[in-house]
Amino acid sequence: MNLACNFRWIQRSAVLLLLVAAVPAGCILESDLEVAPQKVEPPDSFLLSWQRDPATTMTLDWHPSPGTQSWLEYRKLGEEGWMLAEGDRISVPGTNRSFRRAELTELQPDQRYEFRFNSEPPVYQFRTMPSLLTRPVRFVAGGDMLHRADWMRNTAASVMRTDGADELDFAVIGGDLAYADGEARKVGRWYDYFKVWTEEMITSDNRVIPHVAAIGNHELFKGYIHNYSPAEYNDPDFVRRHAPYFSTFIAFPGPDAYGVLDFGDYLSLFLLDTGHASFIGGVQTDWLRRELHQRGHMRHIIPVYHVPAWPSVRDFNNSLVSQVREYWVPIFEEHEVRLAFENHDHAYKRTHPIRNGQVDPSGIHYIGDGAWGVRTREPRRDDHGRLPWYIAEADSLRHFIMGEIDGDYIRLEMYDEDGRHIDRVTVAGPRVTVTE
Ligand SMILES: [Fe+2]
Repeated sequence: MNLACNFRWIQRSAVLLLLVAAVPAGCILESDLEVAPQKVEPPDSFLLSWQRDPATTMTLDWHPSPGTQSWLEYRKLGEEGWMLAEGDRISVPGTNRSFRRAELTELQPDQRYEFRFNSEPPVYQFRTMPSLLTRPVRFVAGGDMLHRADWMRNTAASVMRTDGADELDFAVIGGDLAYADGEARKVGRWYDYFKVWTEEMITSDNRVIPHVAAIGNHELFKGYIHNYSPAEYNDPDFVRRHAPYFSTFIAFPGPDAYGVLDFGDYLSLFLLDTGHASFIGGVQTDWLRRELHQRGHMRHIIPVYHVPAWPSVRDFNNSLVSQVREYWVPIFEEHEVRLAFENHDHAYKRTHPIRNGQVDPSGIHYIGDGAWGVRTREPRRDDHGRLPWYIAEADSLRHFIMGEIDGDYIRLEMYDEDGRHIDRVTVAGPRVTVTE
């Protein structure tokens, strides 16, 4: 690593100029010295996530408060010297703010790393993922995060009080994060989101839980589900124009609003876009079919998306709901998907395993329905008080889903916002024959 050149942006700080003797002399740029000094302070918040291989990379975003700057150092746990991560400065659209993003690469699988800001404590940790399933992998799933920051915080705090939370590997969020609707005047909601995450989603030994997210309708301008035409969606700049904050703030695998993250040979997370910045059918469905076809060797495949195919609250024949069933569900079934996370309805739900439009033990469990930190809704019932045929459990509860991938099985334990256990199910992977 070329430490000399990584010092370039730090030299903009007047404070660091005092340290200039420690900096290789050839690295000082005169133009840098003319820049008005900024205060060096710890960032307001930071977020860990992945754009590529979770076993060997980690993307770290940090958000300085206005008029301040901060720098990042990291090292493998147990090593002596700190490495400086310069990162890119990224402007936040419609504001005078910016943040830094560094993708750390060439890391070792299943290892702890330490990081800190401004060469000062506190020292945080992160952990890379194993490249093989040599130990159980644990995650938390949820969506529809922040109607109110205190609701999001309460659920997050309950996650981290749950048994096994100190072994959590990552969180996967199914859209509707900050409810900022792509609007500059609501950008403060994003900073609330990052602050809650920074302060709550951390283990007792200061290890920060990485954040993986799919897009929801409230990431889009005005928060509406516009249902644009396929031609409009084909504009390569669509995501950046219509979801400016999601596309800026959320490190994502690939350039589109949908992508896939592969964890060794044991997990593929498909982060899909249910018609917000991408048409459900057409290009996205072609991509999904192609990518699923290439992952026959994967032990587990989990699609994560916002609008449910099997809604607990909304109309079964809603346009986007119907499109998910029409375009994606047959492909999921064809490729032996057994578990999908759905959101958007603001209730808790677990479906029966479904295949070919009926309950089938070898079918797919659809679990959600997005109520981490939002006002909840009542699940839909018929005149006799019965839930739809496909729903096994549903309730009007803020909740989270703890998952443990252990060999060919994924064990799921569900809890309400205060950490009370509400449901559980074990889902078999695609190579396991499931019978009644
Ligand atoms: Fe939504």
